[in-house]
This record gives sequence, C-alpha cells and structure tokens, in this order.
Amino acid sequence: MTSAALLRPFRRRLLAWYRRHQRRLPWRETHDPYRILVSEIMLQQTQVDRVLPKYREFLRRYPTLRALAKARTAELRKVWYPLGYNVRPLRLRAIAQRTVREHGGRLPDSYDGLLAMDGIGRYTAGAVLSFAFGQDAPILDTNVARLLSRYFDVRGSPGQGAVKQRLWQLAETVIPRGRAYDINQAMMDFGALVCTARRPRCGICALRRTCRSFPWDDGQTPGRPGRRRNR
Ligand code: ADE
Repeated sequence: MTSAALLRPFRRRLLAWYRRHQRRLPWRETHDPYRILVSEIMLQQTQVDRVLPKYREFLRRYPTLRALAKARTAELRKVWYPLGYNVRPLRLRAIAQRTVREHGGRLPDSYDGLLAMDGIGRYTAGAVLSFAFGQDAPILDTNVARLLSRYFDVRGSPGQGAVKQRLWQLAETVIPRGRAYDINQAMMDFGALVCTARRPRCGICALRRTCRSFPWDDGQTPGRPGRRRNR
C-alpha cells in the first residue's frame, strides 16, 4: 500500500479515537499562546503527570507573559523546582522579555519569529503555531515519531538526518487542512496511551488494520505472534 492509501484511514481512525479517548489536560482548555508555550517548555523533558501540578502553580504565580518577564531569578527557580533542567525557566523568561521588547508583548505567530528565540525549536514552534494560532504546523516529538515510523514503516533511527526528515514530512502530510490542532494532540495521546514504546497495545489499536508494522513484536513481549523488528 502506498503512503497515500495509508493516509486517509490514519487520519479518520485517529481522529475518531481521539474524540473518545483524549486526555483532559489544562493546556487543551486554552488558546493563550503564553499558556501553551509554558506547557510545551515544561513538557519538553518532563512527564505529563509531573507537569500538571507545576503548570497550575506556575501560572498562578506568573499569569501573564508580562508577569513572567519581570520574574526574579531566585523565585522563578523556586517555582520551577523540582521539574529539573533548570535552564528552562530562565529561557522562558528570556522569551517573555524579548517578546515584550520586540513584539509588544505578543508571542510571534510565525516560524521565523518563534525560531529566533532561544529554547524554541521546530517542535515547540509547531506546537505553539498549531495549538495557539490554529495554523497547520507539524510537530514531531518522540511519541509522534514512534507512531509515524511504525504506521508508515519508516525504518532507522529518528536520530538519522534522512529518517528525521522523512518523519517531519509525514508529520506535515498527515494534517488534514485546518485540523492540525486535533491531529497533533491525537498523535501525542495515541503515542502515550496505545502506540507506546514498550508493549504497544496492538490488541486494541484503532489503526492496526492499516498499520504497516502490525502485529508489532519487539522481541520482548512473550506470547504475541508477529514479525520481529529491531526498533
Ligand atoms: N507533550 C508535549 N506536548 C503535549 C501536549 N500538548 N499534550 C500532551 N502531551 C504533550
């Protein structure tokens, strides 16, 4: 089957799954670019469960981008603790300050404007553009990369340039026009809940009929038939 033939069922089944199974998360209840940026920076290296209480606390203390721009370092570090990777709150504040200085306090709604900021890479820019500004921008994090590489059978490590490029291209292609918000959030949830790194839940997978890697066998899960894959 060609990628094109795999595309439609991917979108349709994934969005249907998402309607029923999406996680309720506080950053999905807002389109405020600042709040979305805070969530994405927190989630860069930290699990959702650990981010949830900190996200609320952080926004109580710094409810706006301007409030964060004025944050004192010692307090900022304290509010961030114990999320780790402590350069992140300082980068976040630097983004807030630069946004106030150069963009009148509004986060830019373009790749160029976002990528110019230290701490915002292609993933975070795509997340802000799709979740806050409703643009059809792709995202690729480890969950999305795993899902796409299994479903479309992209082999090799996502660390390799060519593989990464192919995955970014797929991440863009899978977006139905005007639906980046839903498909991007759906891929993240699906990767976190069904197409997991270890012991993926192929038995209940909504995409398995067209998944190029079904049935998955990681060589570690006993008792499940399937091809052995080295990924
Ligand atoms: N990880 C990074 N961004 C996320 C989001 N918006 N929802 C769930 N997990 C995420």
